[in-house]
Amino acid sequence: MAVIALLSDWIKSQKIKGPQMKDAPTFYRSLEEALDLRRADHSMFTNHKSAWKLGTSIDFCSNDMLSLGTSGEIRRTFLDELTANPNFAMYSGGSRLMDGNYDYIEGVEAEIAAFHGAETALIVGSGYEANTAIYGAVPRPGDAIVYDELVHASTHDGMTHSLAQCRIQFRHNDVDALRDAISSVLDSQPMIVDGSRSILISVESVYSMDGDICPLLEMLEVAKEMCPLGNAVFIVDEAHATGILGPKGAGLVSQLGVEKDIAIRLHTCGKALASTGGNSNLSSGIAAILGSATVRSVIMNFARYVIYTTAPSFPTVAGIRAAYSMMITGNTQKYQDNLQHVVRHFFKSIESNKHWSKASEMGILSIPVIEDWAERDFNAHIVPLKTRQRYNWWLVFHLQLASISAFPIDYPTVPRGQSRIRLMFHAANTEEQVETLASAICSWAAEMIEIEEGAEGAKKMPKAAHQVYALMAANA
Ligand SMILES: Cc1ncc(COP(=O)(O)O)c(C=O)c1O
Repeated sequence: MAVIALLSDWIKSQKIKGPQMKDAPTFYRSLEEALDLRRADHSMFTNHKSAWKLGTSIDFCSNDMLSLGTSGEIRRTFLDELTANPNFAMYSGGSRLMDGNYDYIEGVEAEIAAFHGAETALIVGSGYEANTAIYGAVPRPGDAIVYDELVHASTHDGMTHSLAQCRIQFRHNDVDALRDAISSVLDSQPMIVDGSRSILISVESVYSMDGDICPLLEMLEVAKEMCPLGNAVFIVDEAHATGILGPKGAGLVSQLGVEKDIAIRLHTCGKALASTGGNSNLSSGIAAILGSATVRSVIMNFARYVIYTTAPSFPTVAGIRAAYSMMITGNTQKYQDNLQHVVRHFFKSIESNKHWSKASEMGILSIPVIEDWAERDFNAHIVPLKTRQRYNWWLVFHLQLASISAFPIDYPTVPRGQSRIRLMFHAANTEEQVETLASAICSWAAEMIEIEEGAEGAKKMPKAAHQVYALMAANA
């Protein structure tokens, strides 16, 4: 069975290597010792092919949320784009500021900006590059950055390159905590109080590990009230809202109609748009930074990640255009709607399972975003599934052996003690697949209820864990 082969490979890759390398060259031994820290936690990453890609498992982990990649529809639109531009160049010619600029990329940027109701758009190589560019270039000396504690790693990396020395995080999605953070900036930064410097507030529309939504309107209110001179501005990372949330997938900011109140937005295309991206076809994950003409010029002049890299070439930009033309013409709406249906069907299925309420009362299972799902207009495609920390891997093994591709998220991606399984739903997931997922989760929970209740003769470990530990012993 492919899953067993994958698990066996994973088990082998977690074996400590350093101690057997006493006579090996120092350079390689110390690198392996560094990797051993990962192996010791069973968190060593290796190259593997997800079982869903081999057709032996159901995909509840990939980023192709609108299923544009798997449906093939985007490929057709992309090929149309190539046909309409038969003499396209495979290269861009250099950095955007040198020889890398061309009409087609400027035209696509204008379309993207118009679609999102922004003054300008700047296409860059990936969302990661975009955040490093934004935070490395935009904050001026004396500015402060106030950021949600769960912003993406690329925002953190960007901030380390920023000229803003004052950086304060606030509790995730907590409007009062934002108020406190702004207040502490105002206490220590007189130039922000007098309006000669700014506060940049960094949030995401849909959080990538928690699947919850930023209370942006309330946060805008707080910022306006506390900085009446208008020098508190927002940077909103819409990576997980692009294509999924808002009119035709234009994002949270467009959904709320606050385009004019947001200084900078980031839309990435490697997730729902399947056009280009780390997990998709063609080059690296492309992204668009939205903002005023001034913001665009500042990024082009000061962002090392834009200045010292080759501009995206025609085929890459044609991929993003294919995705945007599908959104603009409303062709992605049915996928957007279906994704909502799939997530709601999951919540309904799991809540109606006879083991769910007991497992959640006992603390064996929890899904923070399940609360009030039926009343919400929008449910994100990211659903964190939590159990007791020590059971996390047991649940993963159970799902994997039930032919469900879903992965654990551990430290350092999430804080210690916050490990969870991140379920990712897709427009092309069927009701039956979702029901299979809900029932697999609950059948594991039923085993765990028995174990925790310690009935006479009850096992100490669920079946799947037994199976995987036997595999580990065989591979020892
Ligand atoms: C919130 C957020 N911002 C930015 C990125 C980086 O985007 P990309 O994959 O295009 O580099 C990610 C990727 O996971 C993300 O989740």
